[in-house]
Amino acid sequence: MSRDHRFGGQWTAEKLERVRKYLEAYTKIFTVNERAKHLRTMYVDAFAGSGHRVPSTGTGPGTLPLPTSQPDPEALEYQKGSAAIALEVEPGFDSYLFIETDPTRAAGLEGLRDSHLDKAPRISIARDDANLVLGRFAQETDWRRNRAVVFLDPYGMAVDWATIQALGGTHGVDLWILFPLGQAVNRLLMRREIPTDGWADALTRCFGTDEWRSEFYEPSAQMNWIDAEPGVEKIATFSTIAVFFQKRLGTCFSRVADNSLRLCNSRNTPLFLLCFASANEKGAPTAIRIANDLLREG
Ligand SMILES: C[S@@+](CC[C@H](N)C(=O)[O-])C[C@H]1O[C@@H](n2cnc3c(N)ncnc32)[C@H](O)[C@@H]1O
Repeated sequence: MSRDHRFGGQWTAEKLERVRKYLEAYTKIFTVNERAKHLRTMYVDAFAGSGHRVPSTGTGPGTLPLPTSQPDPEALEYQKGSAAIALEVEPGFDSYLFIETDPTRAAGLEGLRDSHLDKAPRISIARDDANLVLGRFAQETDWRRNRAVVFLDPYGMAVDWATIQALGGTHGVDLWILFPLGQAVNRLLMRREIPTDGWADALTRCFGTDEWRSEFYEPSAQMNWIDAEPGVEKIATFSTIAVFFQKRLGTCFSRVADNSLRLCNSRNTPLFLLCFASANEKGAPTAIRIANDLLREG
């Protein structure tokens, strides 16, 4: 089993704990609820990693720079990643789909599957781009008979809006998504200039609209002397970016949890925002109530 995947910090544990508790509540409901128990349940982990990780020493994305003194490698503790956690949840899902592009990490997932003999026949591993696989998954699944929890846990802005839209269109997916609030999006938003070219495209792909321009910038009294045009000023804050993303989720999901969880580095700077949305009209009130409770800070 590959166990060298190094990323995250305390915030990673906070995130995974919320998702684990949700999976427990979800599978319980689908076992006891008369209407729900006729449906098949799926867990989809779209940026699945290797199954395990070593807490980051600071070199990974979204972390602080390496400290001058290196930690003792012997003292590093392997921790369970989202895929390993999902497989521990009982009564469990009818099927599991783990998506991972990195071949070494995908091999780690195969090792994880081999170590869960009881569930192994129900586990699929796709070594492909998550956006591609999820697009097919959303389209090809029979949503009259299936329901799914999808966890999107990318490093940065790897999730295309088209993927979120496809998942919302299923009317059968509950979505947990790690939005790269400070780790990527806020960094692209320069203070006195609206991003152009590649950065602008990345923001539009992330939000599914270019309305971020007017949401996050306003004309400024100062001239932009380089282009001899009126200048702009960034008005976006972590809060306004978060609200805008949640509003965007609401355009394609039945309900979005009002609460979201800011995951911060040790300097208390937000890196990510953990959000939840439910695409199923009937299940959404219960799903949102549970998620809102889990997302309450503290
Ligand atoms: C933050 S890690 C996921 C961690 C995992 N959820 C866990 O708890 O252990 C993101 C993972 O996504 C993978 N990845 C990056 N881009 C991808 C893509 N386009 N499709 C699928 N996987 C991708 C990376 O190789 C990495 O393992």
